[in-house]
Amino acid sequence: MADVEVPGQARQGWFVTLEGPDGSGKSAQSERLRAAAAAAGQDVVLVREPGGTAGGERIRAILNDAGPVGVRLARRTDALLFNAARAQLLDEVIRPALRRGALVISDRYADSTLAYQGCGSELPLDELRPVVEFATGGLLPDRTILIDVPVEVGLARKSAAETTRWEAHFDRAFHERVRAGYLSFAAADPARWVVVDGTAPADDVFAALWGVLLDMPGLGPRLAR
Ligand code: TMP
Repeated sequence: MADVEVPGQARQGWFVTLEGPDGSGKSAQSERLRAAAAAAGQDVVLVREPGGTAGGERIRAILNDAGPVGVRLARRTDALLFNAARAQLLDEVIRPALRRGALVISDRYADSTLAYQGCGSELPLDELRPVVEFATGGLLPDRTILIDVPVEVGLARKSAAETTRWEAHFDRAFHERVRAGYLSFAAADPARWVVVDGTAPADDVFAALWGVLLDMPGLGPRLAR
């Protein structure tokens, strides 16, 4: 597979991304999906952004250190760092896994940049899209699941200890813009996006997510075996 997506060229594997506001529960749900797919005998790889490679984890450390008491990063620097980590993850993990026919589940992907740096930090989306395109080589997920929760629910679920320094200065309006952004992306591309109510009990959320995987062409029959 080239590091740029060739339109119309078939690729193997399945690529599913989970998106959602902070405290939506997507990290725990991603792990449940991974475990269930593995139990069904499916080659499955779970990754988390930013990070997932040696280089990406170093970039994550820089992002974590930013904020009021850390290094100062401009919004555009944030956007480039998230995308640098993403390019590395694609090169080292995601593309090789797809090439061998695996199911790749990513806890956040390119839509996080559009939602957080675009809608949240208010960088123009039409400037961010080419940055994301460059980092990903145009690789889009087959399905993107938005685990949607109202801002106050998500924030209440996150403990202060979980809040990284670069998140600490985001106000409520920022999180409202992120949520609205996600919902607008999902509405604009229903063929790729599925919205799941993240306020439902965790087992119901999981059942909805698993149902999305079962509906995917080629993958569903393998998971249902
Ligand atoms: P998480 O580990 O709780 O998902 O946190 C990652 C944080 O990084 C979260 O606040 C969203 C943020 N983020 C961006 O702002 N842009 C991005 O491109 C990605 C992947 C994450």
